[in-house]
Amino acid sequence: MIRHETLNPPPHIYPVNEWKIIETAFYPRFLAQTETLFALGNGYLGMRGNYEEGRPCFQNGTFINGFHETWPIVYGEKAFGFARTGQTMLNVPDTKTIRLYVDDEPFFLPTASLQLYERVLDMQSGTLDFEVLWETPSGKQVLIESRRLVSLEQRHVAAISYQVTVLNGDVPLVISSEIREAPPNQAGMEDPRQARGFAHQVLIPVHHQSNEQRMVLGHRTATSGMTLGCGVDHRIETENPYAVDMSCDGKQGRVVFSVEARAGRPVQIFKFITYHSSRGGATPQELCERSERTLDRTLTAGFDHLLKQQRVFLEEFWRKADVQIEGDAEQAQRQAGEMQQALRWNLFQILQASARAEGTGIPAKGLTGQTYEGHYFWDTEIYLLPFLTYTEPRIARNLLRFRHSMLDRARERAREVNQKGALFPWRTINGEEASAYYAAGTAQYHINADIIYALRKYVEVTDDKALLFNEGAEMLVETARLWLDLGFFSDRQGGKFCIHSVTGPDEYTTVVNNNAFTNLMARENLWYAATTVGTMKDQHPEHYATLVHKTGLEEGEIADWQRAADAMFIPYEEELGIHPQDDNFLDSEIWDIKNTPRDKFPLLLYHHPLVIYRHQVIKQADVVLAMFLLGDEFSREQKKRNFDYYDPLTTGDSSLSACIQSIIAAEIGNSGEAVRYARYAVLMDLADIGGNVRDGCHIASMGGTWMVAVYGFAGMRDYGGRLSFDPRLPRMLCRLRFCLIFQGQDLEVEFTHQQARYRLREGQGLTLSHQGQRVELKPDEEIALPLAGESQLCAARKKERQ
Ligand code: BGC
Repeated sequence: MIRHETLNPPPHIYPVNEWKIIETAFYPRFLAQTETLFALGNGYLGMRGNYEEGRPCFQNGTFINGFHETWPIVYGEKAFGFARTGQTMLNVPDTKTIRLYVDDEPFFLPTASLQLYERVLDMQSGTLDFEVLWETPSGKQVLIESRRLVSLEQRHVAAISYQVTVLNGDVPLVISSEIREAPPNQAGMEDPRQARGFAHQVLIPVHHQSNEQRMVLGHRTATSGMTLGCGVDHRIETENPYAVDMSCDGKQGRVVFSVEARAGRPVQIFKFITYHSSRGGATPQELCERSERTLDRTLTAGFDHLLKQQRVFLEEFWRKADVQIEGDAEQAQRQAGEMQQALRWNLFQILQASARAEGTGIPAKGLTGQTYEGHYFWDTEIYLLPFLTYTEPRIARNLLRFRHSMLDRARERAREVNQKGALFPWRTINGEEASAYYAAGTAQYHINADIIYALRKYVEVTDDKALLFNEGAEMLVETARLWLDLGFFSDRQGGKFCIHSVTGPDEYTTVVNNNAFTNLMARENLWYAATTVGTMKDQHPEHYATLVHKTGLEEGEIADWQRAADAMFIPYEEELGIHPQDDNFLDSEIWDIKNTPRDKFPLLLYHHPLVIYRHQVIKQADVVLAMFLLGDEFSREQKKRNFDYYDPLTTGDSSLSACIQSIIAAEIGNSGEAVRYARYAVLMDLADIGGNVRDGCHIASMGGTWMVAVYGFAGMRDYGGRLSFDPRLPRMLCRLRFCLIFQGQDLEVEFTHQQARYRLREGQGLTLSHQGQRVELKPDEEIALPLAGESQLCAARKKERQ
């Protein structure tokens, strides 16, 4: 499954399996990558796939979403309004480690003689299972079986079952279950994407309590003042005689089980783990007490109970979120099998990054690594929320509410950069802007419109008016105010509303005037604000009155937003028939991508920014992304011309690009490119295409792969909350099936090359459009429709446009 140009491990070590990631031999060259591939998490707590023995390892990582240290950003040359405080998600104390000694010999994978080895991440049980048969130098056959989980049901809980059986003799065993000091951050000085290392001690132990087989530690961060409690407790089951010893000094601790093992009699240890954290409101002592209570409860319920809960949680998840694909001919079956495995793993990782992200966002690497410092970007709103909105609206709602909780900080930030309204941070954990490079950071004002875009989609899909009228409306007012204040009615552009000095999604072209993506998205933001607030005024006077109270809204503002949106300048080049990315983009020299050596990508690591900026070269989809998000504002011909112009200029140096390129390629009928980009996006991490999966998974791209299936291959569109499908199944697939929750109704769709099948699994009745034809689904009804050929389709599209 995992293939990389330089590593290329044999496929029998990583066999393809629909529901599992399997490793059948110890493969040290892939150690770093597998720590990400086998990572577990629940959106609050994340653990890299390190071996229980703690060694060998690339990064021993345990992360709590949002648990961070702050530090002053030091600029060589400072300017007004620059972001001041850096934020870094911390690696917290490690509780995974369990060391094993047989006859005083440590179990150490690189030197152990292994008779059997298998590591499996099971996406249906939500466990990481490890089985190994070790023959010690003295000839003892030792079977080690472990199973680890991070509970999706119980936010603060993880657990490990660790069983050792000596098969052929009596021998003393020692099992040392540990809490270890937080390992240092994985810092990369040469790569700006990686996290920061700290010279000082960032996590200060301030409290601990322990007894028998339980150890609980309390910490406080040196600067941000965040507090942490973490603890472990154990249960041992064995018929062998044993003794237990515990030592804990506040920084670390171990519970040591010394067992007189008899042949064939297993020693079973259950390790229950908990983490609690606070922004500083709770003291470390209080968090230790909470940890104790969680451990009491978990210990009483037992490991099997956690396993059962995990399975039930995942059954429900897959019932709503699974995307099934099939290939027909032999080669296509193999390729589809790989894609199926990768697609499921991508969706599983999104769940692991978000399921219990309550009061936090989703870091760019989920909870699998520290690259990008654990920051939240627009990745959440544009790349992850579509999937979550259609399959797990509860999570989508939590994420939007979390954005709203940043609104006061966003108001302050707008003041700092001399603007009215609110400006959401480009990257952040605690709501403050943490981007130290304003050209590719703060200048990405489009983050405001991205949040509103996601809000609108969420409201259209779920009909959650409560969220819209409360949190949503307040964000609408403040973001609209920002746009109105940021742009201006330009005399030179015939009174059009222009927005200058911003950066669009393409970070290889910064601080430009009239970035098409930004202007289009800002227009939507302003329109949506004007209509929503206008409707509230007319039809929901109480909500409107509250909104006025919260925002000081004046009546004339609504008309101003409408006026700016109606007059928005959208760059267009008549001669080429394309939308220029910004006012000057087309004037620059074209970068010779074809003749740039492959080892000089990503360009940002090998060229001064100015060199990149003075060329027509694109990091990630920009106009092409606008054509996806706001597809009904472009004609099919414009889409084709824009794609054909921008695609050859796009390096794909950001993992956020390929999925979008695939969707538009599919829409314009370029199925070859659609499949090529789809495979690239789907296999991004499992095949380590970017070469950096060791640092964590690319969570936005993972959300993008769901969009490739649903918006790309199934051709779904949902403009204005109306569902339509125009499937474009690539030749290599013979079946695509998935479900959507739309306005509380549960829709299942399935496509083959010959027909579409729509089934309302639950709901009162749903109208959708199938290749331009209106379809009305009644409860429990299934409708199968033939797929029209290209010529019939053109006629249907024409009719639809009239
Ligand atoms: C991309 C951004 C993205 C960030 C985090 C950058 O490389 O250019 O669009 O938000 O990564 O994923």
